Amino acid sequence: MTRGRFITIEGGEGVGKSTQVGLLRDWLAGQGIDVVVTREPGGTPRAERIRTLLLETSEESMPAVCELLLMFAARATHVENLIKPALERGAWVLCDRFIDATYAYQGGGRGFDTELIATLERTVLAGLRPDLTLLLDAPVEIGVARAQKRNRTNGMADRFELEQRAFFERVRATYLARANAEPDRIVVIDASEPLEVVTANLRAAVGKRLVDSKS
Ligand SMILES: Nc1ncnc2c1ncn2[C@@H]1O[C@H](COP(=O)(O)OP(=O)(O)OP(=O)(O)O)[C@@H](O)[C@H]1O
Ligand SMILES: [Mg+2]
Repeated sequence: MTRGRFITIEGGEGVGKSTQVGLLRDWLAGQGIDVVVTREPGGTPRAERIRTLLLETSEESMPAVCELLLMFAARATHVENLIKPALERGAWVLCDRFIDATYAYQGGGRGFDTELIATLERTVLAGLRPDLTLLLDAPVEIGVARAQKRNRTNGMADRFELEQRAFFERVRATYLARANAEPDRIVVIDASEPLEVVTANLRAAVGKRLVDSKS
């Protein structure tokens, strides 16, 4: 059994990640591929409990280092209990946010040193890397407006969505810098386009990089 492919979908708030993960799952499944969809922070029962801790707003302040370590704590159990076993049995894993989000949010956003994150990455991921990362990129105001519109119908703003504009600009810039540094792994998709256009561009990227070479 060959190892499955590991695809991560990244980007700022409200750019359309979860929407595109669902559409990509359906498209791949339609080609007979065994697909597992998951997300970070979260993905397993314990990691989802950590997600709640990370996203809830509370009277108690969240030190940035608490946030950073909880992200990696959730990731450790997610990788061991879900991602690795799925890849080993030959399934493809689609993950809504992964390691690049930590560099963007805790590195760019909160200001943690890249080297500290890289050290934690080496310990927690032990060499596991996405085969392909789809970075949905859009101006901050577009993503924030989409997330606010969605939250009006289902849900409330989480702890990250309450951040200031400058925070999201740093997140976006860090994501783009990572894409620039790793063009073979990270494909930037313009997420400000209409839904159908983004979907088509994303399929083209996956088809070119992975589907053609799956056998
Ligand atoms: N290309 C698009 N054009 C217009 N609206 C879109 C587009 N893609 C997604 N949306 C809408 O924007 C909203 C946010 O999308 P979605 O929840 O998929 O984003 P997300 O990146 O997962 O957000 P979050 O960062 O909060 O998890 C949804 O209401 C979705 O229907
Ligand atoms: Mg989402």
